[in-house]
Amino acid sequence: MNPVDGRRVGLERALRDAVRSGRLATGTRLPPTRRLAADLGLARGTVRAAYDQLIAEGYLTARQGSGTVVALPSPAAPVPAAGHAPMERPRHDLRPGSPDASAFPLAAWQESSRRALTSAPAEAFGYGDPRGRLELRAALTGYLRRARGVAAHPDSIVITNGYLQGLTLLATVIGGTFAMEDPGVPMHREAVRRIGPQVMPLPVDELGARADLLGTLAVDAVEVTPAHQYPTGRTLDPARRRTLLDWARSSGGLVIENDYDAEFRYDRKPVGALQAAGPDNVAYLGTTSKTLGPALRIGWMVLPPRLLDPVADTKLHTDHHTENLGQLALADLITRHGYDRHIRASRQRYRRRRDQLRHRLAGFPITLTGIAAGQHLLAVLPPDGPTEAEVRDIAETHDLALGYLSDRRDLPSPDQGLIIGYGRPPEHAYTAALDALTAAFTTCF
Ligand SMILES: Cc1ncc(COP(=O)(O)O)c(C=O)c1O
Repeated sequence: MNPVDGRRVGLERALRDAVRSGRLATGTRLPPTRRLAADLGLARGTVRAAYDQLIAEGYLTARQGSGTVVALPSPAAPVPAAGHAPMERPRHDLRPGSPDASAFPLAAWQESSRRALTSAPAEAFGYGDPRGRLELRAALTGYLRRARGVAAHPDSIVITNGYLQGLTLLATVIGGTFAMEDPGVPMHREAVRRIGPQVMPLPVDELGARADLLGTLAVDAVEVTPAHQYPTGRTLDPARRRTLLDWARSSGGLVIENDYDAEFRYDRKPVGALQAAGPDNVAYLGTTSKTLGPALRIGWMVLPPRLLDPVADTKLHTDHHTENLGQLALADLITRHGYDRHIRASRQRYRRRRDQLRHRLAGFPITLTGIAAGQHLLAVLPPDGPTEAEVRDIAETHDLALGYLSDRRDLPSPDQGLIIGYGRPPEHAYTAALDALTAAFTTCF
């Protein structure tokens, strides 16, 4: 294409995009060719040719006396598919599931990214190992040993796009039937179902997941949150931990240990990972979604030897590997202890928030379950009401969003409860969110 044609095609494309996106609305009059040509430093004939082309395509129309005008109506906003409605943005957001995104350690991440990018070898910018960057797997080996007692080796780790991908990779490799905690995370159950395995709900009581039922369920894998059950907030009872491992050893089944928020224990050191007691039978999965933020989509799995190759092969055929540059930045952040520093500071902040929340809730007839940990609280409602639906209605009048226990359950249960996520609001909005919660509760009870 000669340079004149190139400029004409460029102008046509820019005008077409502007009409399609609605930036140039129907009826808008375009500048006369002489003026636009002068403004853009183009020959008048080039602009005339571009206008003619778009008139021929129906984007523009030439009206006698009123020049060239946009003819096509701006496209209507796309209608979201059912189930994908844009997430509402309540003024006071105490839903569980996300840390305070505004507390992302931006300066430390920028510094680690800069250092990682400057020192990255050329091959880091090409395709890599489906298990992820060795730098990150090595950094995690030390971190997970130290922080969670995990028996890890760089070769036993696969880096994933968050916990969710680790779970779906295991669902692909193992197939069959999965037992998953109920209540738990509906999205995780649905993700496993969509891959293929059947999902059996595993009830949870005061001692945590009912590992004692596994013998009767005939499943191939069980997913549990032993350090901090989601959403009841309990730790798995030591006898149940043993039962889980016994089940895995005798049946050949796999325990999937979801260690999503164990960094946040406020009263003592968190219980160590279950994986340490059964590295051949437990897949240990962790994530940066609670510590740094879900936007990164970086998680990890520490796998029993028999699963390493099949999982790496499935990861390869899913997306080659998790993107390299974020992995390198995270490896730098961990090895230079910026990750630990950020977790220590976050722990103090979330602990303070938790204390403030508990203080506000004192006096209301609710029962708080679980240990002093994580970024959410489960408040069980009294049997004589109000119901979750009644609380939801009142909370909405205060522009307040909470999580609800029934939404996280497949099994029928008379229990009604609120899951209050104290992690999510930015620091400056937290007190107002607590005020809204207290006001809503005062109306409810
Ligand atoms: C129980 C549980 N597991 C895992 C995760 C994190 O998942 P991912 O790493 O895919 O963001 C969350 C996040 O809220 C969670 O609540």
